Amino acid sequence: MLVLGIESSCDETGVALYRLTPGSHDYRSGLLGHALHSQVRMHADYGGVVPELASRDHIRRIVPLIDRVLDEAGCALAALEGVAYTAGPGLAGALLVGASFAKGLAMSRGLPTVEVHHLEGHLLSPLLAVDPPRFPFIALLVSGGHTQLMRVDGVGRYALLGETMDDAAGEAFDKSAQLLGLGYPGGPALARLAEDGQPGMVKLPRPMLGAANLDFSFSGLKTAVAIAARQPKAARKEDLAAEFQQAVVDVLVTKSLAACEQAGLTTLVVAGGVGANAQLRAALTARARAHGIRVHYPELALCTDNGAMIAFAGALRLASGREPSLSFSVRPRWDLQGLTAP
Ligand code: KG4
Ligand code: ZN
Repeated sequence: MLVLGIESSCDETGVALYRLTPGSHDYRSGLLGHALHSQVRMHADYGGVVPELASRDHIRRIVPLIDRVLDEAGCALAALEGVAYTAGPGLAGALLVGASFAKGLAMSRGLPTVEVHHLEGHLLSPLLAVDPPRFPFIALLVSGGHTQLMRVDGVGRYALLGETMDDAAGEAFDKSAQLLGLGYPGGPALARLAEDGQPGMVKLPRPMLGAANLDFSFSGLKTAVAIAARQPKAARKEDLAAEFQQAVVDVLVTKSLAACEQAGLTTLVVAGGVGANAQLRAALTARARAHGIRVHYPELALCTDNGAMIAFAGALRLASGREPSLSFSVRPRWDLQGLTAP
């Protein structure tokens, strides 16, 4: 089944073509092409995503991106067998662009559509890697809006084990980066700055590290960065960035390994934008190995928002059969654990 996937939940327009071969576990070879347009430069002047500008830009980008992906894959529009789109969570206007385009295209060609949960896309993206994980596994979902530990028993079979009480890990990276004058989006910039710094020169808290649960809290850490940066004899920005990153990594690694141990599982999957963080990858892989746990990551290009994960998750769901329908809605707020198996 050949599926076109469309992602437009935030500040990236992503499009991909995925061909699902039933029964095959070689998911990677089904990805025939994907293309992305990032709006980062457009929003940078405002210090964050401006929802209305995001929606308008998705409208501009979506058709050229689809043309490019079809062209590069050597596929005709007529070959499509289904259309998948991100229905939530995300910015309502931005979601509506992808949803209404997907519905219009599908209707005009008599194709079925499928709504994809953005986080399910992230969660399943490591299956597109060279050596994919097998169910069941523990997933650490770390994006700009979410920080969750889930038990994953199969597609649509998700149990929430713990989540952030306030800011997401990516949000803490972005806000701390802003406090350090790094602009938007701050995560990658803060990580680069941290390379020249030394953790431990300033001391920041490891929130909820000792709590007897799998929940997180990152807003206090961001406040601690703000206070440390304002001290009369403030530490070097590089050292503050390095300590901040180390604090986030310490908490994420410890809780992820605790989740694996509590569930009795030895496969851990990391997904979402913060999963691109090199320090997190290095620390997690090393500490997991000592516990007999294997960690799987999506390839770097599929860590942050992209169309490939939406086409893939959509193909898995569409393969189970969906009727074309004219009605649609988007869900700016949508709980992942409310999903059911296709
Ligand atoms: O998954 P994603 O692309 O979008 C959401 O669904 O939110 O995640 C974006 C988040 C942003 O907060 C960004 O700063 C963070 O991921 N991020 C990083 C890195 N790359 C992206 N954070 C730390 N280190 C990175 N290398
Ligand atoms: Zn995302």
